[in-house]
Amino acid sequence: MKLSPAHRLRGRIRLPGDKSISHRAALIAALADGPSEIANFSTARDCASTLACLQGLGISLEQTDDKLKFPGGQTLASPNKPLDCGNSGSTMRILAGVLAGHDLSAELIGDESLSSRPMRRIIEPLELMGARIEAAGGKPPLKLRGAGNPRPITYKLPVASAQVKSAILFAALNAHGQTTVIETSPTRDHTERLFNGFGVPVRTNNLSVTLDGPARFTGGAITIPGDISSAAFFVAAAMLLPGSDLVIEDVGLNPTRAAFVEVLRSWGGEVEQSDLRSERNEPVGTLRVRGGLNATPGSEDRILSGSMIPALIDELPLLAVVGTQIKGGIEIRDAAELRHKESDRLATTAKNLRAMGAEIEESVDGLHVFGPTQLRGAAIDAYGDHRIAMAFSVAALIADGETEIRGSGSAAVSFPEFYDLLHSLIET
Ligand code: S3P
Repeated sequence: MKLSPAHRLRGRIRLPGDKSISHRAALIAALADGPSEIANFSTARDCASTLACLQGLGISLEQTDDKLKFPGGQTLASPNKPLDCGNSGSTMRILAGVLAGHDLSAELIGDESLSSRPMRRIIEPLELMGARIEAAGGKPPLKLRGAGNPRPITYKLPVASAQVKSAILFAALNAHGQTTVIETSPTRDHTERLFNGFGVPVRTNNLSVTLDGPARFTGGAITIPGDISSAAFFVAAAMLLPGSDLVIEDVGLNPTRAAFVEVLRSWGGEVEQSDLRSERNEPVGTLRVRGGLNATPGSEDRILSGSMIPALIDELPLLAVVGTQIKGGIEIRDAAELRHKESDRLATTAKNLRAMGAEIEESVDGLHVFGPTQLRGAAIDAYGDHRIAMAFSVAALIADGETEIRGSGSAAVSFPEFYDLLHSLIET
């Protein structure tokens, strides 16, 4: 994909459903007692992987133009071939949790990127619950034997990960007794909100989440809020292009996901929220962005670190791109987890930013981005990582000259419509 500098972005859009919420909604609907109807289900390739895995487990579902329907009252069966999770860490880790609580065997496989990602983080708690999981070197493929009668556990997460927390909570649905997950920093809480929304009470207290098993979901209807992490690319691009005016309707505004909006505001961005409401406990609303940076941020606002990191985790490459335009630059610390995403996002962000003329220092767990710097068009490698492709597409809009994003097709992993929508908003 070749991209030229843009003058500004203008328009009013709605986005396909949030990827994280869609994975969870599909798993809940597959396990629920009654029928479910999911509207605005994510179009991400990752969520299609979750649906294909569920079908491999004997779940029937019906996908029409605007709804995904599950009849309810179904049971999972051992698949007769490996479950292909594609590029999707959420599919592999959360589904492993579901399977760990069932009396069945399955093999979970993934693409090259997923096959290099760490799985010990789920293997340890799920084995404590009674599952058996073989994984050479702690990496996929996973050969899993579920526990017919899983043990409830109290487990302190060694890494801040919503995927691990969710895997344990899904396994706990079939355990007799109380399971508690304790976090070190808050991570996205979609699982907790949706469990409560579909009839399985979970209690949250500070950094702990507790579920009393066994428990079953009641099916129902949900409209998935637009994906806030997809919105982030447009919000940042509009903010960086003076004269932009962009409205994004019906977008998820869960505080464990929308933290980047606060960060952009603290960097001088003009982003307003309105029409706030709730969909099965998930906050939804409208974002309006007007272009231009209208303030010089203070030095504390330019450091992203500590407990902020999990709430910004998927937006950090994009925030590094924006950071090149911030007076005084920005710093990202305590973000070693970025090295375990679809690519090593500290390395791939640093490499690509340097290719565009930015000055970057990379450390073991962060980046120092110097700014402001006029970026120049360059040949960028997405390294097979959807968020790197899209973050650098935003960089391309503010660069001098043309940028080529090699491997831009990877955007479809989370956001197949990204380039069409972007082109429909650009005014040159
Ligand atoms: C996700 C959690 C995060 C995030 C990923 C989606 C989820 O991963 O990076 O894109 O849906 O729970 P971790 O839980 O590994 O931090």
